[in-house]
Amino acid sequence: MPIPYTKLVIEHFKNPHNVGEIPDADVKVTEGSPACGDMITLYLKIDPETQRIVDVKFKSYGCASNIATASIITDLVKGKTVEEAKKITWKDAAEALGGLPPVKVHCSVLAADALHSAVELYLEKNGLIKENEPTTV
Ligand code: FES
Ligand code: FES
Repeated sequence: MPIPYTKLVIEHFKNPHNVGEIPDADVKVTEGSPACGDMITLYLKIDPETQRIVDVKFKSYGCASNIATASIITDLVKGKTVEEAKKITWKDAAEALGGLPPVKVHCSVLAADALHSAVELYLEKNGLIKENEPTTV
């Protein structure tokens, strides 16, 4: 049976970027997938002046697709503002990886959910949630 993953997915799985912890992170979230029970922890370090993500790390307790998505999504958010990071979706990450098999979509959703939760938590902690703005992304 052929391997259903793109070359990029395999590369990011074998050599994931931004794996680890940030001991003095501004936010740390752990998110679980209802679909498979796997988990991911994401750390963000944010410049309070510019609201830019200056560092991001993750630890995945999930599968190859989750690791590859987290790897590419952490690459995508580095240097972005929190508002820009909020807009990055699992589809952006999956596209950047050249696509994922449909059965593995929830794995990239898990990585994107962790990013969105981390950004929300940061905004909440710093009183930056605007009134009337939906808190879910
Ligand atoms: Fe996550 Fe199998 S259920 S790797
Ligand atoms: Fe659980 Fe992929 S099977 S994250």
